[in-house]
Amino acid sequence: MSADTLHFVVLIGSLRKDSINAAVARTLPSLVPEGVNVSFLGSIGDFPHYNADVQDEGFPEPVLKMAAQIKASDGVIIVTPEYNYSVPGVLKNAIDWLSRLSPQPFTGKPLAIQTASPGAIGGARAQYHLRQMLVFLDAFVLNKPEIMIGQSTQKVDPEKLVLTDAKTGAYITKQISALADLARRLRS
Ligand code: FNR
Repeated sequence: MSADTLHFVVLIGSLRKDSINAAVARTLPSLVPEGVNVSFLGSIGDFPHYNADVQDEGFPEPVLKMAAQIKASDGVIIVTPEYNYSVPGVLKNAIDWLSRLSPQPFTGKPLAIQTASPGAIGGARAQYHLRQMLVFLDAFVLNKPEIMIGQSTQKVDPEKLVLTDAKTGAYITKQISALADLARRLRS
């Protein structure tokens, strides 16, 4: 691996075993452009409910581990469903935990968002709530290309649980290339 290789970490916003979003995420290693590799962060289901009293006793190990992996990365890709026109509570909980650390791991981090939904507009509304949180956390969220995968059940192999739609895959490659460009611009 060359010193110029960018390493992005992937955060999945669904805990579901057969998650469509996890299926999209699982396909990312085969879609990244040259000069980029990806690895997966742990499950946000391992985080307890955020409680400042628990924090006062010490940050839970899974939170510290994920924060260190984000800090060490060149960028983050969040792949998440939309719940009730917003982000799943479990993802908000994870962001709340990570946001309490100092240094805060999302600060200055290039970040791309992907959402997938069986519905028509592919989780677009969750993306804008997520962007709003990431403004406060001072991440550099990539504007375009936006990846909002509608009718997603038709684009994922239900057995293998990977993305099979080539057009969507090509858009994802474009988005990760744009994230890599952003990361290189921020680094220089
Ligand atoms: C949903 N779903 C959903 N879909 C959508 O496009 N907009 C929405 O606001 C919601 N709201 C919502 C709330 C809750 C509580 C659930 C459980 C589901 C449907 C959702 O997109 C669908 O279940 C996806 O398959 C969930 O993503 P994963 O787990 O397959 O990645």
